[in-house]
Amino acid sequence: MERAMLPLPSAEHAAAPASGESPYPSRVPLLSAALAQCGALLVIGLVLTQVPEAAIGPGGGMPWAALQGGLAALLGRVLGMDRWWMSIHLLFAPGLLWAIGLGLPSQYPLIAFCLLASVYWGVSRTRVPLFLSSRAAAREILNLLPRERNFTFVDLGSGLGGVLSGLARARPRGDFHGIEAAPMPFLFSRLRTALSMPNCRVSWGDFRDFDLGGCDIVYVYLSPAAMGALWIKAKREMRAGSLLISNSFDVPGVSPSMTVSTGDQGGSRLLLWHM
Ligand SMILES: C[S@@+](CC[C@H](N)C(=O)[O-])C[C@H]1O[C@@H](n2cnc3c(N)ncnc32)[C@H](O)[C@@H]1O
Repeated sequence: MERAMLPLPSAEHAAAPASGESPYPSRVPLLSAALAQCGALLVIGLVLTQVPEAAIGPGGGMPWAALQGGLAALLGRVLGMDRWWMSIHLLFAPGLLWAIGLGLPSQYPLIAFCLLASVYWGVSRTRVPLFLSSRAAAREILNLLPRERNFTFVDLGSGLGGVLSGLARARPRGDFHGIEAAPMPFLFSRLRTALSMPNCRVSWGDFRDFDLGGCDIVYVYLSPAAMGALWIKAKREMRAGSLLISNSFDVPGVSPSMTVSTGDQGGSRLLLWHM
């Protein structure tokens, strides 16, 4: 049955994040990552200049690569990097050495890098990688959309456009808009929607520059790091009576008006704020 567009309990908003908060953390993790790796390399280099015979031991360069990884992970923590970076630090030098050992043509790593960059463009800044809403989540979102009247729906960070295109097909009276910053997902979703869906479009850009004032429903599936700033933007721009839906991620200190369990395997839920 259609749960269509409310009524929702009025939103009880606890303390909102400070209004001066920047949209994304100012620290640039890539810089810290480079510093940690360079620092570790410096230490290893100093040791090897003192004890050059230690360079050639059992296992070739791999023990040194592992040591480089360990030191970089440690330095990363000292520089205040998030825990999940540690595994990247630990694996980076050994992985590099292993890949060199494969003797692949030199353009392969470049191609792999370009592909990854085109999918995960800007993640070090936005801290929002690509992962997709489940079908169950899309079904629950559909239940929230009106059938009998026109409305506007925007997916901020629309990824591959799966949610958008499914909803646009099921609700022809809705006007659906996706905004995506990463080149490859943008191109893919643009092609997916441009030809066959007159009520759905995808734009390339940063959703922080997009005015939410004209939207009836705003959908996001981002990350904890992005939610505080998103809430400030939503409070500033969204109209009274519009609806913000976040897949799985809370706004720190702000209770949702309603929560809908999707029943998918990942245990995701939709958090709804009636603005
Ligand atoms: C977790 S995915 C969600 C994809 C899609 N909305 C879904 O639910 O399946 C988040 C997407 O947001 C994009 N993104 C992150 N920050 C963005 C920003 N500031 N502007 C536009 N897109 C952004 C990422 O590139 C990624 O594709």
